[in-house]
Amino acid sequence: MMREPDKMVAITKAVVEACRKPVTVKTRLGWDDSSKIIVELAERLQDVGIAALTVHGRTRCQMYKGSADWTLIGEIKNNPRMHIPIIGNGDITTPEGAREAFDRYGVDGIMVGRASFGHPWIFREIRHYLDTGTLMEPMTVEEKVALAKRHFALSLQYKGVNRGVYEMRRHLSCYFKGLPEFKATRMKLVTSMDPDEIMSLLDYVKDNWGGIQLPVEENVYGI
Ligand SMILES: Cc1cc2nc3c(=O)[nH]c(=O)nc-3n(C[C@H](O)[C@H](O)[C@H](O)COP(=O)(O)O)c2cc1C
Repeated sequence: MMREPDKMVAITKAVVEACRKPVTVKTRLGWDDSSKIIVELAERLQDVGIAALTVHGRTRCQMYKGSADWTLIGEIKNNPRMHIPIIGNGDITTPEGAREAFDRYGVDGIMVGRASFGHPWIFREIRHYLDTGTLMEPMTVEEKVALAKRHFALSLQYKGVNRGVYEMRRHLSCYFKGLPEFKATRMKLVTSMDPDEIMSLLDYVKDNWGGIQLPVEENVYGI
């Protein structure tokens, strides 16, 4: 769609007209470095009636390479014609990074993607930091195990065994980052197809590494 902005705007307009619910758009800066069209595109999408816009500060060609460029997200916010909420996205990995996104670029909201892998409590950490200016105590391994088990149980419940296990792998490979001598256990966690075995492995993690609380600066996010 980023190569055919006219079509993108036309499709968005048709969706807005066909829906009774608010329609939001999430997109990137443009197709490649020579076509970062987002500032003008944001106006056009607003003009056809979207309720909010999320922008990931990379181009499609970049995929996930380099770092997200938030300057154009700030430019959208500085455009006096824009009035819908703008949500910034890309490379937010810490509560401090979230604060900076609001302060420097004036966005109305942020989205966090990859940093939530194996770290789903990042949203609570960010909320706490924005509210109080202080960082939450890092989780102990015991707390992480309890959360991982609940997360896994919900994943199985919502997605069934196969998808539940596969989708949980990307989280399990990150939940316990930074723990010493963890590689072999991590490999088992992310290769087993047996939910009971994965649950038992999580108990094993608690028994062997429980009580460890990595210092906040070693809090490794999944990115
Ligand atoms: C596994 C995975 C799946 C994704 N699926 C979607 C998707 O369905 N729709 C979407 O708009 N973005 C999707 N994204 C992109 C993210 O929403 C986000 O824009 C991107 O990861 C950059 O944010 P981050 O640096 O916080 O991860 C996905 C990203 C990943 C890693």
